Amino acid sequence: MPDHAEYDDIAAEYAASKQLPFRTVVEAPTLFSLAGDVRGLTVLDLPCGDGTYSRALARRGAASVTGIDLSHAMVERAEAAERDAPLGIRYAVGDAAELPAIGAFDLILTSYLFNYARTRAELQAFARSVARNLKPGGRLVGMNDNPRTAPDRFGSYATYGFSRTVEGPLRAGSRIRYDFPKADGTHFGFDNFWLAPATYEEVFAEAGLTGFRFVDAIADPAAGGDWSDFLRDCPITGLEARREA
Ligand SMILES: C[S@@+](CC[C@H](N)C(=O)[O-])C[C@H]1O[C@@H](n2cnc3c(N)ncnc32)[C@H](O)[C@@H]1O
Repeated sequence: MPDHAEYDDIAAEYAASKQLPFRTVVEAPTLFSLAGDVRGLTVLDLPCGDGTYSRALARRGAASVTGIDLSHAMVERAEAAERDAPLGIRYAVGDAAELPAIGAFDLILTSYLFNYARTRAELQAFARSVARNLKPGGRLVGMNDNPRTAPDRFGSYATYGFSRTVEGPLRAGSRIRYDFPKADGTHFGFDNFWLAPATYEEVFAEAGLTGFRFVDAIADPAAGGDWSDFLRDCPITGLEARREA
């Protein structure tokens, strides 16, 4: 596990970006719709980041929530929130690429994990970590950079508060740069990596996760506004799978 993770440098900025409308109107409702009724479920949030979704699932009635992230700074933010308003969530620093069996969870939430895999082997490592921590019949739900997005849509999300760019033609391992301008004129960002949708399907099936599929993002109808442009060739996608029973 590295001493220093990319998100150690951008923990505060990333946490602030959770308030952007595309996250509250599209990302969160898509994730909650996929998770369904979590009351009474044991949940692993991998990666938990600052704990935004760990807290949401605890408040929605999960029996237990465990959050794991590679970044010390992100986990510290999550732990600080837990100290301020305890929900019984346990957090730890860990690498999702080599997570041992720490439980047999009913539900694993992976909000932007798999898009850090640069190769099929790295995606396999993530998928195996998920499989070894799901109980038989347990569910995986998550969000991801959308590998199905048409490349000509890249970079056209300025009105939503960010840009998404790729250099050259999309191929396995292509770096996808997300960049968020800040009010003070500076900006912050992070890199995701592209792998073909078919690679995802093959890797999850090999890991013993059945029915892997990307699920189109939705917009919360109560939020108002016209999100049809964002949802067409949407930069983000839901996903789901199940561990074979
Ligand atoms: C885009 S953030 C998402 C955080 C959270 N899931 C959310 O939706 O708010 C991506 C997170 O993945 C974490 N991450 C990246 N690679 C990881 C790995 N190999 N193991 C665990 N966490 C990782 C980063 O530290 C960062 O907090």
